[in-house]
Amino acid sequence: MKPPLLLFIFISVSLEALPVSVTGNNVGAYHPTDDITVDCGSNTSSLVGGRNWIGDAADRSDYSPIEKTHSSTTAEASSSSPSIPGAVPYLTARLSRSEFAYTFHVTAGPKFVRLHFFPSDYPNFRRVDSFFSVEAAGYTLLRNFSASLFADYTHSVSFFSKEFCLSVREDQILNITFTPTPGTSDAYAFVNGIEVVSMPESLYYNTVVDSTEGIKVVGLPSPRTLDTTKALEAVRRLNVGGQFVVPADDTGMYRTWEVDDDYVTSSNIGVLPVNTTIQLNYSEKVPKYTAPDSVYNTARTMGTDKRISLSYKLTWSVEVDVNFYYLVRLHFCEFQIEINEPLDRAFEIFIDSQLVEDRADVISWSGKGVPVYRDFAVALLDHSQKKRTNLSVTLGALPDGSTLYSDAILNGLEIFKISTPDRNLAGLNPDPTPPASKAAKIAIVAGGTLGCTVLFLLAFFLHRRKNRAKDSTSSDGTSWWGPVSRSTTKSMKTQWSSLPLDLCRYFSLAEIRAATNNFDKVFIIGVGGFGNVYKGYVDGGATPVAIKRLNQGSQQGLHEFRTEIEMLSQLRHLHLVSLIGFCKDAREMILVYDYMARGTLSDHLYNTDNPPLPWKQRLEICIGAAWGLHYLHSGAKHTIIHRDVKTTNILLNEKWVAKVSDFGLSKVGPTSESKTHVSTAVKGTFGYLDPEYYRHQRLTDKSDVYSFGVVLFEVLCARPAVSRMAPMEQISLAEWAQSCCKSGAVEEIVDPHLKGSITPECLNKFCEIAMSCLQDKGANRPSMNDVVWGLNFALQLQVSTELEATDRVGVSVHDSDDSDHDAASIRGSGSDEASNTSGGWKSSRETATSTRARSNDVCDESTASYDAGKLP
Ligand SMILES: *[C@@H]1O[C@H](CO)[C@@H](O)[C@H](O)[C@H]1NC(C)=O
Ligand SMILES: *[C@@H]1O[C@H](CO)[C@@H](O)[C@H](O)[C@H]1NC(C)=O
Ligand SMILES: *[C@@H]1O[C@H](CO)[C@@H](O)[C@H](O)[C@H]1NC(C)=O
Ligand SMILES: *[C@@H]1O[C@H](CO)[C@@H](O)[C@H](O)[C@H]1NC(C)=O
Ligand SMILES: *[C@@H]1O[C@H](CO)[C@@H](O)[C@H](O)[C@H]1NC(C)=O
Ligand SMILES: *[C@@H]1O[C@H](CO)[C@@H](O)[C@H](O)[C@H]1NC(C)=O
Repeated sequence: MKPPLLLFIFISVSLEALPVSVTGNNVGAYHPTDDITVDCGSNTSSLVGGRNWIGDAADRSDYSPIEKTHSSTTAEASSSSPSIPGAVPYLTARLSRSEFAYTFHVTAGPKFVRLHFFPSDYPNFRRVDSFFSVEAAGYTLLRNFSASLFADYTHSVSFFSKEFCLSVREDQILNITFTPTPGTSDAYAFVNGIEVVSMPESLYYNTVVDSTEGIKVVGLPSPRTLDTTKALEAVRRLNVGGQFVVPADDTGMYRTWEVDDDYVTSSNIGVLPVNTTIQLNYSEKVPKYTAPDSVYNTARTMGTDKRISLSYKLTWSVEVDVNFYYLVRLHFCEFQIEINEPLDRAFEIFIDSQLVEDRADVISWSGKGVPVYRDFAVALLDHSQKKRTNLSVTLGALPDGSTLYSDAILNGLEIFKISTPDRNLAGLNPDPTPPASKAAKIAIVAGGTLGCTVLFLLAFFLHRRKNRAKDSTSSDGTSWWGPVSRSTTKSMKTQWSSLPLDLCRYFSLAEIRAATNNFDKVFIIGVGGFGNVYKGYVDGGATPVAIKRLNQGSQQGLHEFRTEIEMLSQLRHLHLVSLIGFCKDAREMILVYDYMARGTLSDHLYNTDNPPLPWKQRLEICIGAAWGLHYLHSGAKHTIIHRDVKTTNILLNEKWVAKVSDFGLSKVGPTSESKTHVSTAVKGTFGYLDPEYYRHQRLTDKSDVYSFGVVLFEVLCARPAVSRMAPMEQISLAEWAQSCCKSGAVEEIVDPHLKGSITPECLNKFCEIAMSCLQDKGANRPSMNDVVWGLNFALQLQVSTELEATDRVGVSVHDSDDSDHDAASIRGSGSDEASNTSGGWKSSRETATSTRARSNDVCDESTASYDAGKLP
């Protein structure tokens, strides 16, 4: 049950309207002829991110709906509904118990139609009663659709959008009609927002068939076309191995590209190479608008260690409705330094467990740095009376002799549902979700040690509560591994062979000594309870790394050291500091991490040697860190609680990308599904500590949310979480900032360097998010996902207000906040004394790659009656 394709519509920036694109590298972007955004139920228009959301309820609106009975109403969600998104177009809705339609006079050609929904109680309309159909250009897009059942099934979202592609003929008017399901008196139809955006003729539709360009249909011998009589529904669009791409960063069509972590279902999750320096060479067949650069310069591969890559298959699974054909587009681009010749990396591709390519070879398809995609179609038919099934995409390595590296690569994945011959795209509603399944995830706790000062402060400020709960998580890890070998006679390689050496590299002690000039003190960049952190260079001086040398007297046993390596090497995320490798000698235990050239966020807030960070950059850093925590909380199978979120644990690389650190040295938590929290001794850093956690010693992911709320206020005010010299009421930043917000005096505590640069809308939103994170009860705090969304929205408010201001004065956009990123000097990542390396483990997921029996004749049967050469 995965969230639907979410669209950050409010992060959108019109590319046509601006002389200079504020979204970065959009040269070569597509400029849609039709780019219509309707804010349904609103009587005003709002410029959000440069796109004008036109209210359909304004006087003489071009987009007032057409109705037979004139009985539709407009409304805002009842204020009692939880988690109102607070963003255009979700604030208002058009609702009716009879039919209504929108009419769009658009040019001919294929269009994206995006429908935005926020299922909620609206005055006189109950959330659970929405059942309606949507038709457009003769296609049924939705039928008897329940927005609330859909949102509950995919239960991490309260609002969502659905994206369709359909083609408008010459002289055709595009009507979108909403019809409540007949037969139930309470049924009503509603919609919060509508987008209609043109797309290039041949972006997804395809009328050419040759050996490479047609769509290979699983089980059919010859390729097919996809002509414009078909409509599509986007099911998933994944930037494989890469970052979330918001609509504004798409190539002009406002598509959203999700992170693929949640969809990798094989036991081994592969490795994530990236090459941001490669100059991508687009072609006529794959023009630049096909997908953003960031899709092609990041990837997921199986790794070049044959023993490992030949032992598993890399699989993605996406849930889809049964009884439809699906278009599966796989995006590829070779950018790794090792891969240059045909057969360097040739591999197998399976779709729905059926082999569709026995020797995929990206270099020979397109060449180095040249993006290319392949389209497949597959029928997923109902074999088990289920409404939904998983569509899988699987890569398999080829053995020696067929390829140099037994490896495989995927850069992007798009999955579309294809309309049936009777022009239908609608599936059935999911069954109502039992409330139990919405319970919080099981937690896995990051362990750690606590500095004495912090303990003292805790005892002092928090009434001397004792840490009485035993850390219940400390002894659970053995079964994963079997007995740890105590043998010292075996060679290192053998002894550690169960470790993921493709994900994580082994360094000899000699290499580490060379890298640090035999642990020279001048290379120390951090000191912690566990030992020292050195800056060093490996690979003959080419790669800077941070080297953590564990004290010989450190409590961390060999077992925990292993666990950390195994776990950290699997936890890969753009916004988490990654473990590069380790070194284990008779006496030494050493961990090698990515070096973070710009040190900690804390350094940039308090160290006056650094120029003050501009506001937008601070926001971006917060968004990055929030993504990292979100990944810890929900990207892995089990929730991982960081437990020590603070500005000294948010590191910045040379490109100012925020990375959460010190989630290492993990302990595996309880595995019973019934547990929603972990009882543990209170650990953390004073000033950031969740009061609920402190009181009840119940740790949940919401404890991190609290700490992150403190981080947000720190970023806003450039004031430490605890100022011991300050007047009593100002000692704790959390308390002081909350009281200032409540009394409307927040501007007084904003960092003086930011005065005048934060727009009031952005400041309000930012404070609202930070305040919600600091809610006393964990249950009332937002999830990190909500925080990411909220912060993105705050950023958007900032950007759009700046844009409006510039538009008004008629000058081109100059983004002053982005100035002079290079001014700051390169410094080491400071690891502070209270930091405790701690973390969690993502369990190995049971593989879903076993071949399901599926007879090809089913496909043939179902296609037999349609035109040869076309998809049914
Ligand atoms: C627009 O709608 C809001 C509430 O939704 C209402 O308060 C306001 O009076 C309306 N304005 C106009 C011009 O109708
Ligand atoms: C679309 O609506 C207009 C009226 O707004 C109507 O004249 C036209 O026939 C409709 N087109 C279709 C294809 O239903
Ligand atoms: C990125 O690609 C360029 C050009 O092929 C190459 O020179 C460079 O080494 C690559 N970088 C990485 C990290 O693979
Ligand atoms: C880009 O690709 C074309 C052919 O696909 C080739 O002729 C050209 O040299 C390439 N350019 C670069 C910079 O690699
Ligand atoms: C699809 O796979 C996921 C993860 O393996 C699983 O949780 C889900 O129940 C599957 N859905 C269906 C319909 O089988
Ligand atoms: C509409 O969907 C609901 C829930 O899935 C179902 O109970 C009802 O029978 C459906 N109604 C029609 C007319 O299909």
